Parts: sequence; C-alpha cells; structure tokens
Amino acid sequence: MTTPSHTMDADTIIELLNLEQHPEGGYFRETYRSPHRFASSTTDAGFPAGRSYSTAIYFLLKGDQHSAFHRIRSDEIWHYHLGSAATIHIIHPDSLYEALYLGSDLENGQQLQHVVPAGSWFGVTVNHPESFSLSSCTVSPGFHFNDFEMADPYRLKNAFPEHKEIIEKLS
Ligand code: GUN
Repeated sequence: MTTPSHTMDADTIIELLNLEQHPEGGYFRETYRSPHRFASSTTDAGFPAGRSYSTAIYFLLKGDQHSAFHRIRSDEIWHYHLGSAATIHIIHPDSLYEALYLGSDLENGQQLQHVVPAGSWFGVTVNHPESFSLSSCTVSPGFHFNDFEMADPYRLKNAFPEHKEIIEKLS
C-alpha cells in the first residue's frame, strides 16, 4: 500500500480551510448548517425540537493524532478527501468491534464513504503517521454538542473489557 501523493502539508490545509481544534482530537470547521429545523414531532429518535435538518464539517487528523472514542445521536457519514487513509474503530452497542477503512484505495478494501451508526462508540486513527487525513462528516439531524459524548475510558473499558487495548489507545 503506498501513501497517496499530496502536495500540501497538514498545516497549509488547516490554514487554507480555516480549521480549529476539535475536543475529540484533530481539526475541524463546520461548512454547512441547514437553516431548517426539525419540530420534535418529526423525528422518531428522541431529539429535542429545533435541531437543524443537517450539518457538515471538514475534519483533519495529523498523522500523530487520533480522534478519541466518542458517540453522537445521529448516523455520521464520513467522506474521504485527501492524504492518508484513516481507520474508523467502532464499538457497536452489542459490543461488536468493527474497523472501517476510509480512503481511495478501492482495490484494497478502502471506501470513499463510511457510515458510523448513531449511538455507537468510535474513534479514528491515521494509517500513515508521517501524513495526515482530511475527510468530511455529515449528520442529520444536524450536529449539536448536547448530542455528543466523549467516552470516559474507565467506564468504556468496564462496559467492553474485551476491547481494552483499542480503548486505551484511543482515549
Ligand atoms: N460539529 C462539531 N463537531 C462535530 C462532530 O464531531 N461531528 C459532526 N458531524 N459535526 C460536528
């Protein structure tokens, strides 16, 4: 597997896209927020009234960074753009662990899009530590920090002791 070629480094992209630090690790900027808002009666997933229909962000991880385990209440669609492939590590509510490969090497198991199901714990690593990985994330209903939960590693390890190693790596 070769590192995809790219001419810009991470800091140049962070500057050009005006990204800021994200609490889960990495850098982001919201690029879209629908002006339309759900009334509570139109969602069956228990969101309070007023969530935007949908939001999108850019998300960049430097090679030595990771996104720590967290969960949100919407399905999150990841779209690969530039740099190294990334691995999305998911712990599903039934405790199944799944690794999804986000990248452009379609012949070797990577995909340009992946969906992380609502309510599952997940974190992200960069496959080539000397590089970076730039993607976008879209969610509907739109993102709200009240729907976002960073994992407490001790509680996550208690709940899923069989996944102790990856939880410790991505905390
Ligand atoms: N906006 C701010 N943080 C996030 C995030 O983690 N995911 C999505 N989809 N939007 C965000």
